[in-house]
Amino acid sequence: MTEKKLDTVRLQEMSRAFIESASLFAAIDLDLFTEINRGNNTVSQFAEAAGISQLNAERLMTMCATATLIHWKNGHYENADDVERFLVKGEKSYAGPWLSFLRPGWKNWGNLTEKLKNPDEPLVIGSYESMTVEEARKYHEGTSSIGFGAGRRFVKHVDLSDRSKMMDLGGGSGAYSIVAAQANKQLQAVVFDLPPVVEVTKDFIQKNQIEDRVSTQGGDFTRDEFPEGCDVALMASNLPQYNREIISLVVQKAFNALASGGEMHLIGEMLDDDRTGPTDAAIWGLLEVMSNSTGLTHTRADCVGYFDKAGFIKIEVNEFVPGILTRVSGFKP
Ligand SMILES: C[S@@+](CC[C@H](N)C(=O)[O-])C[C@H]1O[C@@H](n2cnc3c(N)ncnc32)[C@H](O)[C@@H]1O
Repeated sequence: MTEKKLDTVRLQEMSRAFIESASLFAAIDLDLFTEINRGNNTVSQFAEAAGISQLNAERLMTMCATATLIHWKNGHYENADDVERFLVKGEKSYAGPWLSFLRPGWKNWGNLTEKLKNPDEPLVIGSYESMTVEEARKYHEGTSSIGFGAGRRFVKHVDLSDRSKMMDLGGGSGAYSIVAAQANKQLQAVVFDLPPVVEVTKDFIQKNQIEDRVSTQGGDFTRDEFPEGCDVALMASNLPQYNREIISLVVQKAFNALASGGEMHLIGEMLDDDRTGPTDAAIWGLLEVMSNSTGLTHTRADCVGYFDKAGFIKIEVNEFVPGILTRVSGFKP
């Protein structure tokens, strides 16, 4: 039997992966992908459009080409398909704010070791503890650039045509509620989020002219009462921000508040039960070190366990966005 030859290639690539992130951010800042879309697709044209030297334009474009963000074809560069769709400014599908969402933490990640040694007791609502309306506005500019697409996916996966009222726990921009109400004319939704956040939610509701069916309720879902009379409960994308005890408590509170026959959907970055991935789930759990919250990555089995313990039946684990988000659902008898 031949022994597998080991080398350092994989480890070298990992140790330099931050350079790829830095290049992506610089390319977004300098509108590289937008300029390529406009036809400024050679080194000299991009250098002029971005106001940088040809030398630096070539360096950045070479890096982006080897990272497969752009391709060299017939004497000019073209955007990769996903870049063309999500990173050209001015397009409805532009996801720049979401793709830059973790960028403010850039310096902190360089100090991860020190952060891991922090001896302080974790804070229950972590980074949200002191969020102002202005910070929430910036934050949800990012979440909404991906949230409305996720909301459209949710209404394709889940039939809400017989439902009357949904509570959207930690609903943020209200993206899921707004899209669900637009797609189901009989449905009311209440976006439940922290008081400074719902000020921002109100703007999204108003912009989508759906004030008659989507409302807000300011509160902390770890402590306050949930909206009444709901037959659907949704909690999307705040799973790794809390520990197992708190998520279990929130699922129990949702179960207690739901009408009999109602359903709950927990959408989040969940780890496969064999703990081999996805990496995204591990990243969001590790991120919680930065705000010293109680948060960590939950497995699919953990989430099924919260539903089971609360009393839900017909519990299912569904792929939502493969490799990123999983949806666990259950019904109240
Ligand atoms: C990443 S955002 C997700 C927003 C939305 N569900 C979506 O998927 O687009 C997480 C949201 O949970 C809210 N949140 C976190 N902890 C909360 C708490 N204890 N009570 C109420 N809302 C909370 C945050 O304010 C934020 O709006």
